[in-house]
Amino acid sequence: MDPDGLDVGVHPRRQPEPSLHCDDAQGTRREDTVVRRSRVSVLLPLITATLVATSLGGSVVTSAGAVIAPEFSRPLVIPRVLTGSNITLTATLADVQVLPGRKTRMWTYNGTFPGPTIRRPTGQTTTVTLVNNLPQVAGELTLHNHGNHSAAENDGQPDDFLAAPMGGSVTYTYTGTEAGANERGAFQWYHDHRMDVTGRNVWMGLAGMYIIDDPADPRTLPKGEFDVPLLVADRSFDANNQLAYTFNAAGVTGNRILVNGVPQPYFNVGDRKYRLRILNASNSRSYDFALGNGQSFVQIGTESGLLPAPVRRSHILVGPAERVDVVLDFAGKLGQRIVLQNLAAGGSLRQIMQLRVTRHLTDTSSVPAKLRPLPALDSTSAATRTFEFGKNRFSGAWTINDQTFDPNRIDASPRLGDTETWIFTNKSGADHIVHMHAVDQQLVSRNGVPAKPYERMKESWRLGIGETIVLKLKFTDNLGKFVFHCHILEHEDAAMMAQLEVVP
Ligand code: C2O
Ligand code: CU
Ligand code: CU
Repeated sequence: MDPDGLDVGVHPRRQPEPSLHCDDAQGTRREDTVVRRSRVSVLLPLITATLVATSLGGSVVTSAGAVIAPEFSRPLVIPRVLTGSNITLTATLADVQVLPGRKTRMWTYNGTFPGPTIRRPTGQTTTVTLVNNLPQVAGELTLHNHGNHSAAENDGQPDDFLAAPMGGSVTYTYTGTEAGANERGAFQWYHDHRMDVTGRNVWMGLAGMYIIDDPADPRTLPKGEFDVPLLVADRSFDANNQLAYTFNAAGVTGNRILVNGVPQPYFNVGDRKYRLRILNASNSRSYDFALGNGQSFVQIGTESGLLPAPVRRSHILVGPAERVDVVLDFAGKLGQRIVLQNLAAGGSLRQIMQLRVTRHLTDTSSVPAKLRPLPALDSTSAATRTFEFGKNRFSGAWTINDQTFDPNRIDASPRLGDTETWIFTNKSGADHIVHMHAVDQQLVSRNGVPAKPYERMKESWRLGIGETIVLKLKFTDNLGKFVFHCHILEHEDAAMMAQLEVVP
């Protein structure tokens, strides 16, 4: 992370959010900076202790007291799947078994972390009712279906259409359509999006996966139990196994890697093909995924659906909110244990999960040489707009075109039906993940080089230091206001966000 960023602990517009700790989740706020500082100093030795402890094997108590399970000692859990057309997500406190020993009090959807996976056919209307049963300390909530194409009032606005704590609710309607046709099959996710505190709320557990199934996608891809959604997120815990969160505008990372809420799980597979849909739901950590046996991934999709053709990749860098859809073939690997790794980290943090090929299965699935053509976007462009992701030299605030977010300001007013060219540049000294709501987008070029086949169509874009990306955007269906922002959640909460309004 950007070392300067460490000084920007104070929120640019509001007082810093209090650091959050187990007791806070039950209603007590700790606002003094003394606690904030001591929380940081407790976590640093814990990181070191984790690295030492896991190399010893067997459960170990670190100097900070947390019990650390050895890597790959617990099985992967697949979140419960909801398929109905009217779904209720109740935000509620729950004590969740994450680490061995004491349970972790989390802010959950329906009592689990991740929340239930919503799985719906394209073209069908779905309502999702968010009920906020969290205590007052959580404040109002808003639910964003990330990757969905929604009307403005159904988009999960950061500061509008909110569900008040202790019983408030909001119902969102998703049509499953886009520009008069079915929405493309995609691996979306849902999460809280409340202004200033999205990072805290997601860290506490308010996230889940959302899959749109599309009969126009090839039917031979692995399905059913062989189509596995994986939500990867890092978290830190205190000596009592409670989540520790201290806002830091540079981005908050954890010292434990969870997959579907389980620390570094193992997953028993058969010797056949599996489709893994991997979501990076971390607040700020990126993962450079690779397989410990040197095997390549066959990438079939991004967060916006299937690629035109599969692409073989030896490692895949995935930033916060990005998703990657891959097929792994374990044929001929019976008895092997293959580790999904993060090449961007060392020590225990490098180990994400272990795939154990434990049984023989007959494989009837296949990956076609052609998957799905990309939708054609107009070659003409009604407007070109440039957005510079930066950092204020004096205040240290993250900015877009030198400004921090103001819900009362409109930063761009594209016309409904138009296709525009948007150029994003990064002059800030840190990487960002640019995410745009509501609009279909395709990458034209990155640093002047035509888009690689695996990143032509996405909705969350890595914008590395010094980079320039050129996107084509098409505004269909919905008038109104939508945000775009950096998806490193602490950058977003520190107001690296802007707003467009689609006008007639
Ligand atoms: Cu995943 Cu605006 O967010
Ligand atoms: Cu989104
Ligand atoms: Cu950022």
